[in-house]
Amino acid sequence: MDGGGAKRRRVIVAITGASGAVYGVRLLERLRDVPGVETHLVVTKAGGLTLKAECGLAPGSLAPLADHVHSPGNLGAPIASGSFRVHGMIVAPCSIRTASAIATGLTDDLVSRAADVVLKERRRLVVAVRETPLHQGHLETLLKLARLGATVFPAVPGFYHRPATLDDVIDQTVMRLLDQIDIHTEAQPRWGEAGGVPAIGQREGEGEG
Ligand SMILES: Cc1cc2nc3c(=O)[nH]c(=O)nc-3n(C[C@H](O)[C@H](O)[C@H](O)COP(=O)(O)O)c2cc1C
Repeated sequence: MDGGGAKRRRVIVAITGASGAVYGVRLLERLRDVPGVETHLVVTKAGGLTLKAECGLAPGSLAPLADHVHSPGNLGAPIASGSFRVHGMIVAPCSIRTASAIATGLTDDLVSRAADVVLKERRRLVVAVRETPLHQGHLETLLKLARLGATVFPAVPGFYHRPATLDDVIDQTVMRLLDQIDIHTEAQPRWGEAGGVPAIGQREGEGEG
């Protein structure tokens, strides 16, 4: 259940048109520092709009952060085929439109096709869905994705690591996203780990009872 045989672990990062383009950018920044990882980036047309609106960045400006950049319309890209070995794929942020396309197998763009391939090959797919509130149709889509084997990872921050800045919030979400595909970074303190956030009962002078 990995890129079996590929020299480097190939990770697909897809940025779609949900709010939170910064998650995709931070993922690329983190993955660049992980040895032995090869990144493949796809930004949808709507993802390009949110990237510009939220981060002030053009999609082309992300090229130096990725090993390979694919056009969202290129259904002939390597990542469109199961024979191209891939370690995992993270869609962050994932729009409801893309989530629905993946859930229904409507693979008419490279993001949904690559995600469908990852699922059929029983590899790791993580969808950082961002929408709120959610109606029944959204929830049914997410359930379908979970049943197909995707990890549904709503882009909802935790606060147990006591973030002081927005960067802390983003870094913690990105660290947890990467955990889902077995790539472990230490950008933020982990709960209960040595040097991390003391768990309940681990704090000095605190009894468990
Ligand atoms: C500024 C902005 C923010 C948006 N935020 C969301 C969002 O949080 N979640 C979502 O599902 N769609 C959101 N949308 C709508 C999507 O961009 C739209 O559904 C688009 O068709 C998604 O296409 P894609 O899945 O190909 O990227 C937003 C659009 C804009 C312009």
